[in-house]
Order: sequence, then structure tokens, then C-alpha cells
Amino acid sequence: MADENVVLLEEDNGIFTITFNRPEKRNAMNPAMHQQMHKLLSDLRYNERVRVLIITGAGESFCAGQDLKEYFYLLADESTKELRERSREQSNQWRSHMLRLFPAPTIAMVNGYCFGGAFSVITSCDIVVAAEDATFGLSEINFKTAPLGLVSRDISEKMPQRQAMYYALMGEPFSGKRAAEIGLATMAVPKEQLKAEVRRIAEALREKDPIALKVTKDVLKISQRMDYEEAYAYSMALAGDLTYKQDGAWMKSGIGEFIEGKSRPGLNEKDTH
Ligand code: COA
Repeated sequence: MADENVVLLEEDNGIFTITFNRPEKRNAMNPAMHQQMHKLLSDLRYNERVRVLIITGAGESFCAGQDLKEYFYLLADESTKELRERSREQSNQWRSHMLRLFPAPTIAMVNGYCFGGAFSVITSCDIVVAAEDATFGLSEINFKTAPLGLVSRDISEKMPQRQAMYYALMGEPFSGKRAAEIGLATMAVPKEQLKAEVRRIAEALREKDPIALKVTKDVLKISQRMDYEEAYAYSMALAGDLTYKQDGAWMKSGIGEFIEGKSRPGLNEKDTH
């Protein structure tokens, strides 16, 4: 398949879906895919129509990790140094910076294989919904290396250390159901329900206030690394920013609807009459 089609983008009323599109290579990430993801995410982050971003894979695989041939083997030579450096940088930036800090909520829809470098894709997403029978694996040890780049950092944050260590040392594959049990995935659902479940989540997110969603993402991700006093100060600064950017909508229509008896926010309910 030609390199121009390795990533697909669909838009449906604010819900954008990126599909890794090398099904014949189990959606392994080659330099062309890194370049296209880098470009796409640079553009999408400034696109205010994006209310939710879903990432998934074409065919039976989510993503088989880095392309062992095109990303590693063929780039090992001195003559390919420039492409190697460029691809490495793009690969890190789009997964561990652009996607991790994407302004709108992001959902990884893990439909099948998810190996090695693909862990940094899912750990950078806010929500991970896996098919129960998807296959995850930190397979690097099986080809005589380790989860390098930022994969080790990402799994240390998003998997319990005992499980990260076990799966990284053993290279043993595990199911989507297991990924949810250990907290790597938000949830696992039967494969035939995967799209509908992701759609349900995306539509619910689309109804929320986008500025409040962004603040929720920032405060959860960034205050995690602060001490108590810093976290409080940062949170209060965000509160001011939220009020300013929304023109006080949380106080006016948000709390206003509750006071007028038109909503029960605790139950995520609104009176639509
Ligand atoms: N890099 C490059 N090519 C890959 C790939 C990868 N990570 N994963 C799969 N492919 C390619 C295969 O080389 C094969 O290409 P070919 O048809 O031109 O020979 C094609 O995808 C299908 O792979 P195949 O092994 O025949 O399919 P499968 O369904 O039996 O097994 C996997 C799929 C993903 C389990 C197996 O290919 C695999 O173990 N891949 C390596 C996964 C990995 O360790 N990734 C971590 C990288 S950081």
C-alpha cells in the first residue's frame, strides 16, 4: 500500500477518528506513519471543531508497534541517519507530547493487536476501550531488547509496577480483559460492542463543555506531579482561567440549571422539556 494512505481521518459532527491504515502490516508504525501522525496532530490541535478524538486500527489489529523493518532495521545504517533522527523525533513527539497533551478528550479504541511502541499511543490517550479478546504485549524482550524510548516511562505510570515488570520481563501477551483488570485499559467490552461503546462515550463527551473538559485533563495530568501546595495553586489558577474563557458559564447556566430544578448533575441528568 502506498505511504500516502497509512493514516485515515474521518469527521462526524465533532467526533474525529484517526485510523492506522496498514492492515497488511498489522498497522506497524513506519516512518511515513510517524510523519503523517505528526502533521495531522499538529493541525488538529488547533481545529476547534474537534470535540473528541478517537484512535483505532484498520482490520484486525490496533497497532503492532514500531515497524521492525522500516523503522529499526532499514534505518540502522549511517546513510539513513537523517531519516532515522527525524523519524525518532516525530515518533516521540506525536505520541508522548502532541497526543498526551491533546486539547480535546482522546479515546484509544483497541480492536486487536497492541504491541511495544503502541503502548505509548494508548497511555497517551485519556480513555482506553479494548475488545476483550484484543492482544496486548510488551514484546521487546522477545527480540532481545527492552521497552525503550518512552514506553518504559509510560507503562510505569499507567500500569501497576508489579504487572509492568512481569509483562516486560516475560514478553507474555495478555488480553483486553486483563488490560482492564490491571487498569491499563479503562474498560474491556466484547468485540462486537466495541464501536458502539466508544461511540456512546464520544457522544457523551461531545455534550460536555469543551473548556471544562480541557481543564479537567490539565488538572488531572499536571497536578499529579506537583506537591499539595503547588497543586492547589495550579488548580485555583485554572479555575480563574476556566471562568474567564467560559465567561462564567459554569456558574451561570451550569449551577443555574440546578438551582432552577432543571438538572441533577450528580446523576448526569438534565430536564430537556
Ligand atoms: N514490524 C514490521 N512488520 C510487521 C510488524 C512489525 N511490528 N508486525 C507485523 N508485521 C508484518 C509482518 O512482517 C507481515 O508482513 P509480510 O506479509 O510482508 O511478511 C505482516 O505484518 C503480517 O504479519 P504476520 O506475522 O504474518 O501476521 P500474524 O497475524 O500471524 O501475526 C503479529 C501478527 C503482530 C503477532 C506478528 O507479526 C508479530 O509478532 N509482530 C511483531 C510485533 C512486535 O513485537 N511489535 C513490537 C514492536 S516495538
